[in-house]
Amino acid sequence: EAIEKGGYDNFMLKEINEQPRSIRDTMRGRLLVDEGVIKMAGIWDNQERFLNAKRIIIVACGTSYHAGLVAEYMIEDFARIPVEVEYASEFRYRNPIIKKSDVVIAISQSGETADTLAALKLAKEKGAFIFGINNVVGSSIARITDAGAYTHAGPEIGVASTKAFTAQLTILALIALKLGKHKGELTNEKFNLLTRELERIPDLVQQILDSCEGVVDQIAEKYKNNSNAIYLGRGYNYPSALEGALKLKEISYIHAEGYPAAEMKHGPIALLDENMPVIVIATKKGYYEKVVSNIQEIKSRSAKVIAIVNEGDLQVTSLADDVIIVPETAEEFSPILTAIPLQLLSYWIAVKLGKNVDQPRNLAKSVTVE
Ligand code: AGP
Repeated sequence: EAIEKGGYDNFMLKEINEQPRSIRDTMRGRLLVDEGVIKMAGIWDNQERFLNAKRIIIVACGTSYHAGLVAEYMIEDFARIPVEVEYASEFRYRNPIIKKSDVVIAISQSGETADTLAALKLAKEKGAFIFGINNVVGSSIARITDAGAYTHAGPEIGVASTKAFTAQLTILALIALKLGKHKGELTNEKFNLLTRELERIPDLVQQILDSCEGVVDQIAEKYKNNSNAIYLGRGYNYPSALEGALKLKEISYIHAEGYPAAEMKHGPIALLDENMPVIVIATKKGYYEKVVSNIQEIKSRSAKVIAIVNEGDLQVTSLADDVIIVPETAEEFSPILTAIPLQLLSYWIAVKLGKNVDQPRNLAKSVTVE
């Protein structure tokens, strides 16, 4: 087992550190930047179904559901196809409207999650085209779908999903870009700009891993004894806030909630006092100015702010109690970068609290029962 951990103390840290490679492997042979092409047979061979789809429905659970929420933003932005994202467990039981013109995409690391599998079977019965995004070759979901695309994250042993999540975001970015191009919604210029940026992501992830471990360790030390935390983000980084909170809950057993930052004033703001750390994703672009005013609201209630900011940030840095710096990228791909410090933060808090990060209590790697 020590050999399998590759010199790391546990699988989770190994898998966090593998992300530059797993993201690169997921793009390999697909993202051909110089040719201006994204090759994905599962999409290309079924392009009629995708390009004529009136709607794309994404079904998933847990972390994979969070990847689906980012995909909703990307596919609607790039390809202008309406997207709905649903928890598979709700979708399968609520008598959903599914049409033959729908494409249903299931996202699942294991490809074995019972609710996701059942949601797909239902969609298939109703005549929708069903597509799987899985990490495990030959899994049940891979076998029942009409077509699919594998993430190439490699085996993920830690129960808390890390490298599978960023691989899912990567493949979903490729799909959204490909659909955008073939739908004629993305100009060649924009497509080329975005694919060049996507190609840089593994290097940027490496940069974050190299630079932020020390600072995240210190922040973890400072906040490890708090029993609650709030995670806030907007736009593309709203799902990142949900995922950050899930990671903290899963492995450190600290109660955490993720919210879209502007929703705070509709309730959660009542929770704020000096004992509530608020982790805010405040990268530039998108809603930066709005997030700055959200941070001012938090600070005026005496809560502590831990902000994830871009290099050169002055405004948020001057307001926050602690900052973690990540490089700037296209807003659409920023959730891949912001995921890294959020994973590390939950990791270091859990380790400092003496928790078993690879096998947290009550959790299984793959939920094959309802
Ligand atoms: C992730 O950290 C979780 N352990 C869990 O939410 C997981 O993402 C969920 O059970 C879905 O699993 P799947 O991707 O294998 O379908």
